[in-house]
Amino acid sequence: MSAPGSWIEVDRSSLAANVAHLRGLVGPSVQILVPVKADGYGHGAFETARAVMDAGADRVGVARVEEGAELRRQGFAGPLHVLGPFHPLDLSEFVDHGLVATICDPVAAKFLSTHAPDALACHLKVNTGMSRLGLHHANDRESIVELLSLPGIEWEGIFTHFSHADEPREDTSRQIERFDLLLAMLEGKGIRPPVAHAANSAGTLMHPSAHYQMVRPGIAIYGYDPTRGLAPGAAALRPALSLHSTVRNLSWIDEGETVSYGGMWTAPRRTRLAVLPLGYGDGFWRCHSGAFEVRIRGRFCPQVGRICMDLMMVDVTALEEIALGDPVTIIGPELPAQRLSDAAGTIVYEITCDLGRRLPRVFV
Ligand SMILES: Cc1ncc(COP(=O)(O)O)c(C=O)c1O
Repeated sequence: MSAPGSWIEVDRSSLAANVAHLRGLVGPSVQILVPVKADGYGHGAFETARAVMDAGADRVGVARVEEGAELRRQGFAGPLHVLGPFHPLDLSEFVDHGLVATICDPVAAKFLSTHAPDALACHLKVNTGMSRLGLHHANDRESIVELLSLPGIEWEGIFTHFSHADEPREDTSRQIERFDLLLAMLEGKGIRPPVAHAANSAGTLMHPSAHYQMVRPGIAIYGYDPTRGLAPGAAALRPALSLHSTVRNLSWIDEGETVSYGGMWTAPRRTRLAVLPLGYGDGFWRCHSGAFEVRIRGRFCPQVGRICMDLMMVDVTALEEIALGDPVTIIGPELPAQRLSDAAGTIVYEITCDLGRRLPRVFV
C-alpha cells in the first residue's frame, strides 16, 4: 500500500441530489440522459454512470465508440448512447456492445440501412444553429425525410444541440422554433421518431419548452450551474467532486529567497513551505500558479511559486501547527472549482475534465 498522495473524491449523494433536482424540473415522463463522456467530465465514467442510473436517470451517453465499449467492458449494462457521429467502420462495435448510434449524414444512414445485421437503434442529429454536426433543419429537409423512411434502421430519436443556452439570448428560442417546425413536418408525414431531444443542462434549466421527450444535462448533474445564476433554482445543485492532497514535505526558507522555477515568488519574511504531490502532470494547470488558496487544518493558505509537473508549494507560515501527512483540500465546498476556471478565463468543464488519470477517483 502506498502513502496517500492526491486524489479526487466524488460524492454519490450529490450526483443523486442533482438528478433528483432535474427530475423535479422535467417531471416523470421526460427521460434524462446523462453524458458521462471524457471519463464522466473527469469524475470517472463508470461509477458516475452507475450512480446516476441508481438515482433515476434513464440513459447515459459518451462521445466516442471506444468510451462506450470501455463502459460495457466495465460492466455498465444500461442504455448507452454514442453522441459523436457514427462511422461505418465502427458498426461491429455498436452491434457487439448494444450502443445507440448518432447519425449525422446520409452516407452513414444509407450504410446502416444496407449493412446492419439487425435494425440498430439510432438518433438522427439535426443542425438548428450550432453548425457542428447534423443535417440542416431547413436545407436538408428532403434528405431528412428520405433517411427517416429508410428500411433497416430503428429511428428511436431525433435531436439537436444548443449553442447559447447558457446565455440570455434569443438564439435558443430560434433553435427551438426551427426544431419544432421540423418535428411538425415529420409528424405530418407520420415519420417522427418517438424521442425528440435538444436540451443540455442550460437548456433543461432555462427552457421548459425544450424538454421534449428527453433532456441531456451534463454539467448540472455534476453540480455546476452553467448559467451562473440566471437559471431559477440552480443554486440547489451540489458539486460532486472535491480534490484532496497531503503535506509531503515541510521546510523553512529565509526572507528574500525565491520559490520554484523562475523564482516567481519571493518570501516576504521567513516562510514555512508545505509541498503537495500535485502538479500540472495531474491536470492542475501551471497558469494557476500563485492564484489560489488551499485549506489545511481549517485555514486558507496561499499556493506560492510556479506549479511543477508533480508538486506545488503552499505558504503555511500562518499555521501554528502542521505535520507531514496533513490532509489538504484544493477543490471542495468552500473552494469551488469555478474560482480556478475564472482565474484561467475558461469554463468549469475544462477544470474537471483535465484532472489527470494519475489521480485516483474515490466514490463516497
Ligand atoms: C450532444 C451533447 N448533449 C449534451 C451535452 C451536455 O452539455 P452540458 O454539460 O452543458 O449539460 C453535451 C456536452 O457537451 C453534448 O455534446
